[in-house]
Amino acid sequence: MISIESSTMNKEKLNLSQLSQEQTALEIKHLNLKYGDKQALFDVSMKIPTKQVTAFIGPSGCGKSTLLRCINRMNDLVDNCNIEGEILLNGQNVYHKKVDVAALRRNVGMVFQRPNPFPKSIYENVVYGLRLQGVNHRRDLDDAAERSLRGAAIWDEVKDRLHDNAFGLSGGQQQRLVIARAIAIEPEVLLLDEPTSALDPISTLTIEELITELKNQYTVVIVTHNMQQAARVSDQTAFMYMGELIEYADTNSIFTTPKQRKTEDYITGRYG
Ligand SMILES: Nc1ncnc2c1ncn2[C@@H]1O[C@H](COP(=O)(O)OP(=O)(O)OP(=O)(O)O)[C@@H](O)[C@H]1O
Ligand SMILES: [Mg+2]
Repeated sequence: MISIESSTMNKEKLNLSQLSQEQTALEIKHLNLKYGDKQALFDVSMKIPTKQVTAFIGPSGCGKSTLLRCINRMNDLVDNCNIEGEILLNGQNVYHKKVDVAALRRNVGMVFQRPNPFPKSIYENVVYGLRLQGVNHRRDLDDAAERSLRGAAIWDEVKDRLHDNAFGLSGGQQQRLVIARAIAIEPEVLLLDEPTSALDPISTLTIEELITELKNQYTVVIVTHNMQQAARVSDQTAFMYMGELIEYADTNSIFTTPKQRKTEDYITGRYG
């Protein structure tokens, strides 16, 4: 077994099969996904609790990013991608034909593996989404920029250089800036796809601390290759293997008393 930080031991334990509607941010129901002929997700069902951190783990190619991208319909952009099943966000199916996908993506923000700031100033990166929404009063934008940069734990490092180009920041700072940009428009859900895999250990730790803060306000879903990271930051963990959700439980149980042989083999490093 990998060693688990004591924080994991003290995490709140929810009964994932009996979450009330209020405790449920997202409900994935019988999701099947094919890229052309190749099926990448097989009948995935799970409830993701509100204002908690949920991690998706599993070997490369098992479908973690695919499942994450279903939540804000990023797979719509992929040709030949066929999705069946439902994902309920606050009880509404995000795949319903009347759903405004742009609005959905505002409500479900996403941060990728490589920091992707826009070629603009730090300030303009953060207020970008607000400007798109038509907010243009200086005072409102300034307030939102400060609130978001503070929320992403980067304010102190950038407050004196807000109008410098974002590309001048370190990788770890850029990733926190991208998180600030995502939270500026106040989404409900934040999807993080391996947000620290391009970062050094110190920046990784800063982002992990930030994730723990973010769940006070947001429902966070994180894909990670790093099992220690899942153990440190997440409240519940979903183990996936070859497109199937093998086991989903509170993080402590997954890492200390997995019920499925495949989960145990994975977390003990028997396959990667
Ligand atoms: N756009 C695409 N077109 C076709 N096949 C795809 C596409 N994206 C992913 N796949 C396939 O779907 C399966 C799941 O991929 P996915 O990227 O979700 O895995 P993952 O668990 O995120 O892996 P990794 O840990 O390497 O990021 C893989 O077999 C992959 O090759
Ligand atoms: Mg991936």
